[in-house]
Amino acid sequence: MSKKEPKVIAIANQKGGVGKTTTAVNLATALVSVKKKVLLIDLDPQGNASTGVGFEQSKERNDIYDVLHDSSKIFDAVYKTNIPKLKLVPSTLDLSGAEVELARQEEREVRLKNAITKIKGKFDYILIDCPPALGILTVNAFTAAHSIIVPMQCEFYSLEGLSHLVHTINRVKKTYNPDLTIEGLVLTMVDKRNSLTDQVQSDIKGFFGKKVYKTVIPRNVRVSEAPSFGKPVLIYDSKCKGSKAYLGLAKEFLKQEKKKVVNE
Ligand SMILES: Nc1ncnc2c1ncn2[C@@H]1O[C@H](COP(=O)(O)OP(=O)(O)OP(=O)(O)O)[C@@H](O)[C@H]1O
Ligand SMILES: [Mg+2]
Repeated sequence: MSKKEPKVIAIANQKGGVGKTTTAVNLATALVSVKKKVLLIDLDPQGNASTGVGFEQSKERNDIYDVLHDSSKIFDAVYKTNIPKLKLVPSTLDLSGAEVELARQEEREVRLKNAITKIKGKFDYILIDCPPALGILTVNAFTAAHSIIVPMQCEFYSLEGLSHLVHTINRVKKTYNPDLTIEGLVLTMVDKRNSLTDQVQSDIKGFFGKKVYKTVIPRNVRVSEAPSFGKPVLIYDSKCKGSKAYLGLAKEFLKQEKKKVVNE
């Protein structure tokens, strides 16, 4: 990887409500707090990452939907956020038609990659918040990414569906992106009082070994309050347990990355 190339990370899990957006928004915020240049791309029609960093929609503003149709639009779709130094390519409900529209178009899987290639040198990290599905949008993210972070909730059914995710990753590796890897799995909304938690944690570790981050994100009401203020929890309440956990995750992520660079 040349020095100027940003590291592109997709935050993905087709299961809904597992903490993808919360992880994308707060990891991005934690990385800018240590002086990294970060772009957050909202690739979910729900637009939760966009509202989560205080973006206000309006018809005149460009979004990821425009970028997927015309990659040169990326230059006009990068916006400031409520967080100094964190930039955003927002999403709007327009994107909900993209799955169907793109299905009929040429080079549909490489749209996002082509756009990201155009902004080389401007960012250290690009984080992509994926929708809860394994359709064309998530495939675009996997094609554009160097690696994937998978947030997982410690529930009985958490491991179900992971084989679909791994299958999609392998398919993209074969066709568009041979170097794609899983960066790590992060356990979210962990409730120590729930007796299932330990069992599910050890199952996940049995399956993915060292890829599972040691840092776990606890269930914390401040984390769930923050989005309604258009802020990451790290800004809303920097001292709460959830914020500390996300700072810890960013630290662990950066440390592991350093190791990888040394080993390359
Ligand atoms: N650590 C946490 N503690 C408490 N609530 C949390 C925590 N993490 C996320 N939540 C809440 O859980 C809900 C789902 O989280 P989030 O939106 O990040 O998941 P998601 O995987 O992006 O969902 P979707 O699949 O719909 O995109 C949100 O209301 C969020 O505020
Ligand atoms: Mg989300």
